Amino acid sequence: MYDIKTFNAIASVGLARFDEQNFTINQTETPAGIILRSQKLHDYDFPDSVLAVARAGAGTNNVPVKQCTEDGIVVFNTPGANANAVKELVIACLLLSVRPILKGANWVQTLTGPDAEEQAEAQKKQFAGTELEGKKLGVIGLGAIGAMVANDAYRLGMEVTGFDPFVSVDTAWSISRRVKRAQSMEEVLKTCDFITVHVPLSENTHHLIGKEQLAKMKKTAVLLNFARGELVETEAVIAAIEAGEISNFVTDFADERLLNNEKILVLPHLGASTEEAEVNCAKMAARTLKKFLETGNIKRS
Ligand code: MLT
Repeated sequence: MYDIKTFNAIASVGLARFDEQNFTINQTETPAGIILRSQKLHDYDFPDSVLAVARAGAGTNNVPVKQCTEDGIVVFNTPGANANAVKELVIACLLLSVRPILKGANWVQTLTGPDAEEQAEAQKKQFAGTELEGKKLGVIGLGAIGAMVANDAYRLGMEVTGFDPFVSVDTAWSISRRVKRAQSMEEVLKTCDFITVHVPLSENTHHLIGKEQLAKMKKTAVLLNFARGELVETEAVIAAIEAGEISNFVTDFADERLLNNEKILVLPHLGASTEEAEVNCAKMAARTLKKFLETGNIKRS
């Protein structure tokens, strides 16, 4: 159990639910640290007392990191704390992209009468799918989430190729011996049946996947984005799907331009939305912030 009062943090609404389970939160006008989940801090007027910001999650793009750094405020995230939740959703969506489970489940609800089962048997062919086993998965970004996706996809019988634009090739390779290493992102784009992106959003990765990259993919390729919406250029992906340059897009980011397109599956940023992930992130953020405020060190042991 953690008592957030002991390190004088302010907690945002997103974290408030943890009061009931684990935390006592002390809202204060002179906080030494801030813990937050999804709230945007860009317009937040930081009190002079703030020394650190703990983002209970992987991405820190809701925090003005540059400004914080200039002001001497340490910003950290909770790497890996919600990775399992995101990984499970990616694997679920890989399966959804080869088996029309949602369509079949919706359709079966429309059946009426005592012969519903017979009708289902007679018409189920329309919902036949394919299998993941033996197909090629490309994982762009081999951090905590990408590496877990790669491992589980391998266990499902997929052939996994990884590329990390930031981690050196040798480090990426050591993350998982089950991942074939690609020498370039182009290799992943050209050769894989499914491509999933797991890199953080930054100036360098904004529109990492745009017109040029989409044009290199197989016509049958399925692209998945569970990292950040801005990594994939929305208009380019819609155009690529309309032109038949790729087959499907699965995204966890609800850009309205992507809605109502039967080749695009849009989720409302559910990647880390599990009880377990939220608790793990909050605990790691609270522990690390406490440690930093007590010792000036955020190194996790
Ligand atoms: C993250 O950055 O940890 C995930 O996108 C989940 C989230 O922000 O809720």
